[in-house]
Amino acid sequence: AVFLNSSRIFSNPSGCVPREFPDGVVCVCNSTHCDDIEPLEGFIAPGTAVVYRTSLQGARMDKSSVKQTPKPSVFTAELDASTVFQEILGFGGAFTDSTGINLNSLRKQTQDLLMQQYFGPSGSEYTLGRVPIAATDFSLRIYTYDDGFGEDFNMEHFALANDDFQFKIPYIKQAIDLQKSNGGLKLIGAPWTPPFWMKTDDTFKGGAMLKGEQDGPYYASYAQYFVKFFESYLVESIPFWGVTIQNEAADWHTIFPTATYARNFIKNHLSPALRNSEAAKNLKIMGLDDQRVYLPQWTDEFAEDKEALSVLDGISIHWYADHQQPASVLTDVHDKHPEKFLLYTEACNGSPTSGTKGVSLGNYTSGESYAHSIIENLNNWVSGWMDWNMALNTQGGYSWFMNFVDSPIIVETNKNEFFKQPMYYVMAHFSKFLKPGSRVINLNLPPLPEKVEALGAIMVDGKRYVTILNRNDVENVTVSLHEKGVDKVYTTVSVPAHSLVTVIWTKY
Ligand SMILES: *[C@@H]1O[C@H](CO)[C@@H](O)[C@H](O)[C@H]1NC(C)=O
Ligand SMILES: *[C@@H]1O[C@H](CO)[C@@H](O)[C@H](O)[C@H]1NC(C)=O
Ligand SMILES: *[C@@H]1O[C@H](CO)[C@@H](O)[C@H](O)[C@H]1NC(C)=O
Repeated sequence: AVFLNSSRIFSNPSGCVPREFPDGVVCVCNSTHCDDIEPLEGFIAPGTAVVYRTSLQGARMDKSSVKQTPKPSVFTAELDASTVFQEILGFGGAFTDSTGINLNSLRKQTQDLLMQQYFGPSGSEYTLGRVPIAATDFSLRIYTYDDGFGEDFNMEHFALANDDFQFKIPYIKQAIDLQKSNGGLKLIGAPWTPPFWMKTDDTFKGGAMLKGEQDGPYYASYAQYFVKFFESYLVESIPFWGVTIQNEAADWHTIFPTATYARNFIKNHLSPALRNSEAAKNLKIMGLDDQRVYLPQWTDEFAEDKEALSVLDGISIHWYADHQQPASVLTDVHDKHPEKFLLYTEACNGSPTSGTKGVSLGNYTSGESYAHSIIENLNNWVSGWMDWNMALNTQGGYSWFMNFVDSPIIVETNKNEFFKQPMYYVMAHFSKFLKPGSRVINLNLPPLPEKVEALGAIMVDGKRYVTILNRNDVENVTVSLHEKGVDKVYTTVSVPAHSLVTVIWTKY
């Protein structure tokens, strides 16, 4: 196949079966075939660096190697392992009902191949998974785990929904299995709404709050609702790592989690309830779980209560309004509260704020927007980055709210095949190599053209890692990478217009 906007032939060393759509090219997978990402071997001989490329011209995590040289070319970029920044928590996506609904529409062999794309050794090896506590806007219907029985303060009628058993639990278990020998999967729970009887308007739509006083029975009961969720999932052999107290305040089912609400609820109810439960006592508690534009004020207000601040582990952030607030606010918050981790827990293209609506098949710009966000945020103390739905249909659903968006993998529900988009490969440039425990380090860059940016890190086993993104239309950037204090070892790579390049080499 000839690639869009280019006379070059689509490269497919890893077996990508390209299919062209008006917006770009996807790699097609079915029950018997899916392209693998070539693994990085444990040992890289000194004198050599491994390179992975994804590009508009058609590279999709294509692996090659390059000889290191004693002399640089024109520009040098210096990796400085003596300046160590944050530890990586991981990368991942969300086990939404919609992800499971779309997986269920495929035959078993195809489902298995799709799950391997995200969690297997030949895929992007995600290490984080977000699990909605009951329904999201990407569910078949709205539900919570304790509705229809009146005011059930003791959670006697709490029960997981059929939706959990059909759409989430089987795939979460499969993901845990696939990641077992590979560092494990950290799961994060997040509710969209409390049970409806706890809300001031008794309905599921946004705008409401929890009923009654901050120290009243609704608040205590809502904390027990969280505990019941984690206990019920543990019964299914699914342990969790973290929890955010409330997904973003939006137009669908929600409550408005002001900083005052958050700090009182966390301090007086959620933290004590979790710590009293065997299933939940070690969970990391995160606040905000909403747009970067709210981050500075939310954090300042939350931090006015020192006791609440002491039981908060991290702050989770979504990407949808990033253009309204510079990434430097992340560094400001980090500098004020260095002990709190910052984690991006939701992002997608195709939402009303991102320029497109719904699915844009093969769109390379959508991939670039992921790479730009990850590099910029990780260079401002963010510890990890999570996508939203892992699989949607060609319309961008299922979504009862008809809030259709895009996803790195799109399922052709009636054809037993799925498409891997550029966003999928972009995630892999980071998730496959920056495992939990990797460290972002300083990378001193030469003056680079606009829209060229880079990230430097040390992998868990000590390998050196640099990813460079070039979003220019024409400029082809060539950089010689070297490590501070290591003489006469340069890795020279070119990063042509609209390409993403990851370079990995052994520590000297
Ligand atoms: C799956 O895709 C491969 C590669 O395009 C093709 O050769 C094979 O026939 C397809 N299998 C099915 C069952 O359609
Ligand atoms: C590709 O996606 C970007 C947003 O990620 C959007 O601005 C652009 O219009 C899309 N291109 C096409 C051809 O739809
Ligand atoms: C980019 O520059 C390098 C080094 O000069 C060259 O080898 C490569 O062919 C160029 N790539 C493109 C796409 O122009």
